[in-house]
Amino acid sequence: MNLLAVEDVHTYYGEAHILQGVSLTVGEGEVVTLIGRNGAGKTTTLRSIMGIARPQRGHVRLRGEDITVLETHEIARRGIAWIPEERRVLPNLTVLENLRLGMLGASAPNGGADALDEVFAYFPRLRERIEHRGRFLSGGEQQMLAIARGLVSRPSVMLVDEPTEGLAPLLVQGLTEILAAINRRGTTILLVEQTLEVAMTLSHRLYVMDQGRIQFEGTPDARRSAPGPRHRGQVEAQTTPPVTVWNVDGGGTPTQRPDGLSALLRCSRW
Ligand SMILES: Nc1ncnc2c1ncn2[C@@H]1O[C@H](COP(=O)(O)OP(=O)(O)O)[C@@H](O)[C@H]1O
Ligand SMILES: [Mg+2]
Repeated sequence: MNLLAVEDVHTYYGEAHILQGVSLTVGEGEVVTLIGRNGAGKTTTLRSIMGIARPQRGHVRLRGEDITVLETHEIARRGIAWIPEERRVLPNLTVLENLRLGMLGASAPNGGADALDEVFAYFPRLRERIEHRGRFLSGGEQQMLAIARGLVSRPSVMLVDEPTEGLAPLLVQGLTEILAAINRRGTTILLVEQTLEVAMTLSHRLYVMDQGRIQFEGTPDARRSAPGPRHRGQVEAQTTPPVTVWNVDGGGTPTQRPDGLSALLRCSRW
């Protein structure tokens, strides 16, 4: 069974029909990445999962349970942590106080000190800054804190929206390694990421989104030449063209990639 499933979700902002039938799945232990240009609907997809933007049609399921109509805090309590793109570190609270807030949303009351030690192992910098207020942290530190605050709730799945946005290349690399380590230790991740290299490095599977729809689904692993049911396509890194993309609707038949998409995939940032 999928850990998380989004099924034919339609979400509106007012009259505007933003998500037009989005379906995706995230398996236990996976890193699944949503990529696509600005305004494609990636953030709205995460907000729809969290019940912040309410789907008007379709379903969101966690381990098979329909969570579409639950309140956001109930969704969080069931084990979904949302790390929004704006980071939303509380400026007047210290690092420790921000982390304690994250623990309030914990799906299980599991030893606060252990959870703190665990996040400080990933982010030793945060331990050094433990008494500093949010507003005195650098952009990179704020991103670390935003992720750490999600992590202390020991989520089953983290929704991470553009964590590398605006960070210097060295920080991007460090953060990529940390996200990979977090995943290796058992946290499933649904990532929104516009830096293709990061997406390629981290993801087991990728969804390309455009205009409120999933346009393609694939894996970044070109070596997996015989795609199984969970690996319906391949998206090769931009260094080794040609890119093979399998249309989601194509029932497993490789399609000629549209020129626009291949250009899209060759850019490291859209
Ligand atoms: N709060 C909002 N009210 C109205 N329209 C919105 C709102 N947030 C986003 N949109 C619109 O919804 C579309 C999808 O936005 P978003 O999900 O943020 O895209 P992405 O994260 O892929 O850049 C865009 O056209 C955006 O302008
Ligand atoms: Mg966004």
